[in-house]
Amino acid sequence: MYHSILTNLENRVLTVTVNRPDKLNALNKSVFDDLDAMMDDVYSNNNIHGVIITGSGAKAFVAGADIAEFSSFSKGEATTLSLRGQAVFQKIENCPKPVIAAVNGFALGGGCELAMACHFRVCSDNAKFGQPEVNLGLIPGYGGTQRLTHLVGKGKSMEWHMTAKIVDAQEALAAGLVNYVTTPEELMPKVNALIQQILTKAPVAIAKLIECINTAVINDSAFTNGKTGYAIEAEQFGACFETDDMKEGTSAFLEKRKAIFTGK
Ligand code: COA
Repeated sequence: MYHSILTNLENRVLTVTVNRPDKLNALNKSVFDDLDAMMDDVYSNNNIHGVIITGSGAKAFVAGADIAEFSSFSKGEATTLSLRGQAVFQKIENCPKPVIAAVNGFALGGGCELAMACHFRVCSDNAKFGQPEVNLGLIPGYGGTQRLTHLVGKGKSMEWHMTAKIVDAQEALAAGLVNYVTTPEELMPKVNALIQQILTKAPVAIAKLIECINTAVINDSAFTNGKTGYAIEAEQFGACFETDDMKEGTSAFLEKRKAIFTGK
C-alpha cells in the first residue's frame, strides 16, 4: 500500500516508520505521498487511536528533504513543494488523535520540521536536531521557521536557523524542543507508554485540546475562522458538555470509580 513508509497497528496505535535508510530517510515525493495517504487513513479509521512517527535504522529519524530531488527545481516548483510539505505537516499537526515523534537520530531540515509538526517529541540520546538549510543557500519550507520559533522562542530560533546549529538531545530538552530524552532502547517503550496513557483519556476531549492548543500558536485566521483562541476554547469547553464521555468522566469521579470512555 505504501512505498516509503512502514506501518504497524498495535494496541490501537499506528507506528509509522519513514523507510529510506540508505538516504537517512530523506523526504522525497514518495514519502510525502505516503504520509499524506497515511494521515487520511488515521483521520477516518476508527481502529487507529494514536500515531507514533519514527525513522528506519539506528542513525536517522529523517535527515531532511531529499536534496537530490529538488536541487534543479524552478521557483514555481519549489514554492509548490513547500506548499505541499506544509499541507501534509498541517494534516499531522491538526490530527484529532495524538501524534508523537520518536526521534531516533538525525532530525535535520525537513526531519526537524516533521518532528515539530507532531504534537510532541521524545528523542533518544543520540538524536541531533537542526535547520541547516542556510548551508544550502535555503530556508526551511515545511513550517520550520514558524514551529521552531513557537517551540524554543524567537532568540534561539533566530540563532539556530542563522548558524545552522546542530543541537544535541540534552540541549533540545533544555530548550523545550523535546519532552524526554531516553536511551535508544527505551525510546519506543517510552513513547508507547505515553500514548497509551493518553488513550485512557476521553478521545473527544483530546481532540478538542489539540484544536485549542494549536489555535494558541497557529497564526492563521483561515484556520480559526477569525476567532480568538479563547473564543474557541469556550466553544469547545461547552461542546464537551454534550458528550457521553464528559457525563461518564464526571459521574465516575463522583461515584469514585474508573471512567470508561467510548469516544462519543
Ligand atoms: N537528501 C538526500 N540525500 C541525503 C540527505 C538529504 N537530506 N541526507 C543524507 N542523504 C544521503 C547521502 O547523500 C548519502 O547517500 P549516498 O550513500 O547515496 O551518497 C546517504 O544519505 C548517507 O548520508 P551521509 O552523508 O553519507 O551520512 P553521514 O553520516 O556522513 O552524514 C548527515 C549524515 C546527516 C550529517 C549528512 O547526511 C547531511 O548533512 N545530510 C543533509 C542534512 C541537511 O542539510 N538537511 C536539510 C535538507 S533541506
